[in-house]
Amino acid sequence: MHILVCGGAGYVGSHAVSVLAEQGHRITVLDNLSTGHREAVRWGRLVDADLMAPTTLDRAFEDPVDAVMHFCARSLVAESLAQPYAYYQNNVAGTLHLLEAMQRHGVERIVFSSTAAVFGHPQAMLIDEAHPKAPINPYGASKWMVEEILRHAAQARGLRSVALRYFNAAGAAPERGIGESHSPETHLIPNVLRSALGTGPRLKVFGHDYPTPDGTCVRDYVHVLDLADAHVLALDLMEREPGAHAFNLGNGTGFSVLQVIETARRVTGRGISFDRAPRRAGDPAYLVASSEKARDVLGWSPRHSALETIIDSAWRWHLAPAF
Ligand code: UFG
Repeated sequence: MHILVCGGAGYVGSHAVSVLAEQGHRITVLDNLSTGHREAVRWGRLVDADLMAPTTLDRAFEDPVDAVMHFCARSLVAESLAQPYAYYQNNVAGTLHLLEAMQRHGVERIVFSSTAAVFGHPQAMLIDEAHPKAPINPYGASKWMVEEILRHAAQARGLRSVALRYFNAAGAAPERGIGESHSPETHLIPNVLRSALGTGPRLKVFGHDYPTPDGTCVRDYVHVLDLADAHVLALDLMEREPGAHAFNLGNGTGFSVLQVIETARRVTGRGISFDRAPRRAGDPAYLVASSEKARDVLGWSPRHSALETIIDSAWRWHLAPAF
């Protein structure tokens, strides 16, 4: 198939592109390179276009597209609280421009990057798809609005879609020349590894008084290549089943911040020290996915689910990042 990957120069998008290419799909990457990297576009052609400039999008559809994967978004919770207009503009209005471009070009299939942030404060230890959606920040709300738009578009005009709600995307594929490179970096695992290397600022652990076994937040880390696999399976599902689908993607196992640091010490063989810092605003204590539906319906089975494997791949990338 010919897949248009919007945001394919970014972290999750570039890993999805690598798996699509491996499976023989033809790829066009659409990216404005605002946070993505030109060097991460190693497969397919790059169209430098912007979802906020709708007329630039048609160029990406010149060669008929079978399906779209949509990774473009602003995705920092704290920034979204400070700049709500920018988040709703980019993530909601930008997506509408993309959906309108798809309609103009007769493309009826889309895989959408959603997030655990659509759930807000979790009301269950394992979050399944039926869990109430009550986002507590503009980032999560913007993703939930797009999920609603996709549902309405399925009803109104038969658009086929799959929303994939990532829990904590982590890891890298250094053997493919790609990995995680954000600026600023706010995510735990890269910050821990930069601290191990001595290249980042001193590590801070945010919050020690959460109602968790060691007082630090518990998250469900999922390898970015496993997320990529789910996107390929979503293409198959859209062929089989019309409608708007949504899946939670995690490993169903939570690790605390301190457990992540301890695992990173083992994997890297380096001492990793940190400062205790106050809680970061908006961090829920536990965020762990039930991915039963993804396993049953998509046939998804994470291949790199051990935390050691995830951290090892990220560590090998950080030792020699290509960008
Ligand atoms: N943390 C630290 N120090 C750091 C970075 C993070 O202690 O330097 C802690 C955070 O406070 C949190 C945990 O490590 O407790 C994980 O933080 P990340 O920033 O790596 O990831 P989040 O859990 O905040 O983010 C995830 C997804 C987002 C989603 C969010 C919903 O990546 O897409 O959950 O809360 F929006």
